[in-house]
Amino acid sequence: MRDLIRSWRVNCPPWARELGLAKEHLAIAHRHNRVRAAWAPHLAASQQLILEIAARCPSRQRVLVIGAGDCLDVPVAGLAELFAHVTLADIAVGTEARKWAGKYPARVECVNWDASGALAALAKVRERLSAADAPAFFTHSDPGLPPGGEADLVVSANCISQLGLVPGHSLRATEQDSTLPERCARAAAKRHLDWLAVRSGIRLLLADAARLDIGPDGKQLKRETLHERFGLPRPDRQWRWDLAPIPEWSEKFHRVHEVGAWIYGG
Ligand SMILES: C[S@@+](CC[C@H](N)C(=O)[O-])C[C@H]1O[C@@H](n2cnc3c(N)ncnc32)[C@H](O)[C@@H]1O
Repeated sequence: MRDLIRSWRVNCPPWARELGLAKEHLAIAHRHNRVRAAWAPHLAASQQLILEIAARCPSRQRVLVIGAGDCLDVPVAGLAELFAHVTLADIAVGTEARKWAGKYPARVECVNWDASGALAALAKVRERLSAADAPAFFTHSDPGLPPGGEADLVVSANCISQLGLVPGHSLRATEQDSTLPERCARAAAKRHLDWLAVRSGIRLLLADAARLDIGPDGKQLKRETLHERFGLPRPDRQWRWDLAPIPEWSEKFHRVHEVGAWIYGG
């Protein structure tokens, strides 16, 4: 019942709910509640870097945060001190982000915005779209101009890998083709990078760079590079995120991510 009420309080268009975005938003919040201490260094590193890049912006009219979610990795108060306008954009806007807008009504606003530009059209054909045709929805989509207009700083906050993956999992065609969500993820990530490339301000992309499985004894069991699949070079900065300590994901290993930061124009 508590979950149902919490889900209702997430502002998310019905077509994005159908594609699993509100559910994913709550899943992230729940995991954070369970492993708060493990996530703290990663969240602090993200916030610190965002503020460092923000301080480099010569003009500070607007900062746009894409995938702001619950603003766990976003230093909203610091950004509100530096910028005249802080736009927190997400397809699923929860109570945490709205609290920040309530605290700084003149400076901080929350916007429901689909950074992929594909979701409304995709939801309409979710049941009948073929696995061959689905990735093209992301490739040819148009997210449009940034919400609030061009920004002096655009932060893409750990959402690039989700843009195609989450909706990809909700497509009927995925039942027959398990590779489809990953193909949607690659198409959506490429579109997002192209969209970021034509922005005029400084851009900071935060994204998963690698996925590691670490045994209970601290030994690395597996390492998979993630950023290369999106055509990204080595990150400018990198740190570890203890995403899912034992037994969160597995009884046998800790799931750790290396988070990368790519800085453009700054
Ligand atoms: C891993 S979370 C990022 C966490 C967030 N920065 C925080 O600190 O809480 C990814 C976020 O991307 C958002 N997202 C996923 N697809 C999106 C889309 N198409 N447009 C905008 N936001 C999207 C999700 O709703 C989620 O809040």
